[in-house]
Amino acid sequence: MTTRVTFICSSKKVCDELLAQAPGMPGVEFTAHVGSARTLLAVLQKEWADVVLLDFPVADEQALEQIEAATLQVSGTPVLLVSPDLSLPFLKSAMRAGVRDVLPAPVTVDTVQRAVDYVQESKSISSRFPGAGSMVLAFVPVKGGAGATFLATNLAEALAELDKRVLVIDLNLYFGDAALYVANRKPTASVVDMVLQARRLDATLLASSVLRTQGGVHILPAPDLPGQLDAVTPDALEALILLARMEYDFVMLDMSRTLNPMAVKALDLADRIYMAVQLSLPAIQGLKRLSTVFQGLGYASKLSVVVNRLDKGGAIRLEELVYAANMPVKRTLPNSEAAVAASVNQGVPLIRLAPRDLVARALQEWARELSPVMTKPGKHWFKVLSHQSGMTLFESITLSRSNAS
Ligand SMILES: Nc1ncnc2c1ncn2[C@@H]1O[C@H](COP(=O)(O)OP(=O)(O)O)[C@@H](O)[C@H]1O
Ligand SMILES: [Mg+2]
Repeated sequence: MTTRVTFICSSKKVCDELLAQAPGMPGVEFTAHVGSARTLLAVLQKEWADVVLLDFPVADEQALEQIEAATLQVSGTPVLLVSPDLSLPFLKSAMRAGVRDVLPAPVTVDTVQRAVDYVQESKSISSRFPGAGSMVLAFVPVKGGAGATFLATNLAEALAELDKRVLVIDLNLYFGDAALYVANRKPTASVVDMVLQARRLDATLLASSVLRTQGGVHILPAPDLPGQLDAVTPDALEALILLARMEYDFVMLDMSRTLNPMAVKALDLADRIYMAVQLSLPAIQGLKRLSTVFQGLGYASKLSVVVNRLDKGGAIRLEELVYAANMPVKRTLPNSEAAVAASVNQGVPLIRLAPRDLVARALQEWARELSPVMTKPGKHWFKVLSHQSGMTLFESITLSRSNAS
């Protein structure tokens, strides 16, 4: 199938150089214009492109605003920038303006190939038949340190080992550290960046923004520094979680005990809420209170108590917790201090670091019980653009159109 790539080059020289290098790539139809961010809206409205590449030699705020206006008005065609600035701050502002990726300048045949790869990868993502059987699992510590983050991230790894597509969303927006538990944290977009993009969030943007662990788990980490949290709304978070549900078999929500509107929205959307608790008196007290609040919020049918770090010879017995909290315990995990500490400190999932450890085995068993998950055909997110006639806004010069097979 032909991929239609449209370039907006900053000068005729750039266009000429590129066209000289790219006499005709098989399966690619490209159109080049001389123009700028101002031209983008007209190109998006008038052209039937699979991807638009915009040459962006100088970082320019006004130009980013023009891009934002254009991508908001015509969503559905991915816009990639070609820029000498590949810094994370620039990438973030570009993404906020609706750009899907920033490729390194100068524009070469390689850039075209990357744009084509981008489109093809997007199409393959959309055809992976995301599932109605997918599950949103929330992990809430009854008391800080109960193990919610460890369980969410390491169960995610165990599910990925079973070939499940798993996304961990760190909803500890202030000081979340889920990514550290299973990955070497690299600079990446955060869950806040995604939520702020809610209006134009789609599968491609999500897939290109997540942090990927070696085991194949995708993570949306908390931001490095809390900022812009006011702009994060429950509706925007809902859009993110609903999209994640379409794209993944399992969406793990790593949460804190704080009950703000965001947390309630996340819990509303969860299929199961695992309350992580350890056997201690304050934890039992906390479990009683939390389960009362959760039942009041209508979550009774999806609540599960997970007793973590169960120490058979401990001062408090499991039966006492069941009795005191008046809730059945669905799952227990043993205590494995040294192995778990090593896993967390090295950022290596426990099932990889110590596969024979008892906690690792318990996580694998948990993952097997949660699988298999049915999948069903999904939707294409590429919207068909309405093809309009008349190109009065089109101030660029169409230089060439080379057609290949
Ligand atoms: N089953 C376990 N055995 C031993 N240590 C554990 C276990 N689960 C968690 N931990 C330890 O408890 C600490 C706190 O866990 P964490 O997941 O950060 O708690 P939370 O997210 O509930 O605040 C982790 O650093 C980890 O070392
Ligand atoms: Mg935590």
